[in-house]
Amino acid sequence: MIEKHWKEGLARRFGVAAERYEQNSEVQQNSAKILAELIKKHLSSHRPLRILEIGCGTGYLTRRLLPFFSKSEWVVTDISSDMIKICQHNISLENNVKATEIHFKVMDGETPDLSGSFDLICSNMAFQWFHDLKGSVEKLVTLLAPEGLLAFTTLDTGTFDCWNRCQQEMAIHRRGPHFVDVTTLWSNTDQYSVDIHRQTFLQLHNSALDFLRSLKEIGAHSSGLGQTPIAPGQLRSLMKKYESCFTDGTVEANYEIAFVLCSNKLPQQV
Ligand SMILES: C[S@@+](CC[C@H](N)C(=O)[O-])C[C@H]1O[C@@H](n2cnc3c(N)ncnc32)[C@H](O)[C@@H]1O
Repeated sequence: MIEKHWKEGLARRFGVAAERYEQNSEVQQNSAKILAELIKKHLSSHRPLRILEIGCGTGYLTRRLLPFFSKSEWVVTDISSDMIKICQHNISLENNVKATEIHFKVMDGETPDLSGSFDLICSNMAFQWFHDLKGSVEKLVTLLAPEGLLAFTTLDTGTFDCWNRCQQEMAIHRRGPHFVDVTTLWSNTDQYSVDIHRQTFLQLHNSALDFLRSLKEIGAHSSGLGQTPIAPGQLRSLMKKYESCFTDGTVEANYEIAFVLCSNKLPQQV
């Protein structure tokens, strides 16, 4: 029940941010670009018949892949109906994807209610909001067609390193999603093959407030399940401490992005 309530809040916050999302999401845009290239390379000899996208947002990844897989049947989903509307609108502005068969659906990617199998399941920067990342991925792998590919990015451990360290030093319990160590999580999986690589992206801000505002503007400011926001006085001290970590008048936020490719085709035994 509490989880349902939390997810409704998450969807609402992303919905409110949907219109302005693209003004403040350079990291997400760059990550979508790299993920799209990885997918195209991986599927260069195997055009997917059916594609499922999870957490489409405003459609950064969708728009990068659609022209390339324009003959596929697409199911494009997000937990926020407002994000879906913006995604739909953005796609309608693209001239080269008119012929594609696209179905839009409001759906929680952790509890997919879909039938049939998919040759490609993809997602950019949404899985960090899952409560059970590994369990959800295992569920999604079962939706893959033989030799299908599940390709996603998520925020890895170490993201917002300095901000987290400041909270630790002030004995403040960290708010927001828990960034798991993706490599450790998949260190002993033998049901499907997993390929992970990690890349750091940096975003500079004028102040700690600017950093927090940038998260709010894209809707990524939900506290974790069952957490209350930091009290205003404590937050002011935390922002001051965060700013004191930098000497040139800007603050730096690091995004550790894991690019994960899962395939239900197991590696050849030797
Ligand atoms: C940071 S945005 C990324 C959006 C887009 N994929 C991009 O590359 O810009 C995260 C998106 O994931 C969606 N989301 C969060 N949790 C989700 C869930 N459990 N199932 C489906 N979508 C979810 C949000 O509504 C939001 O649109």
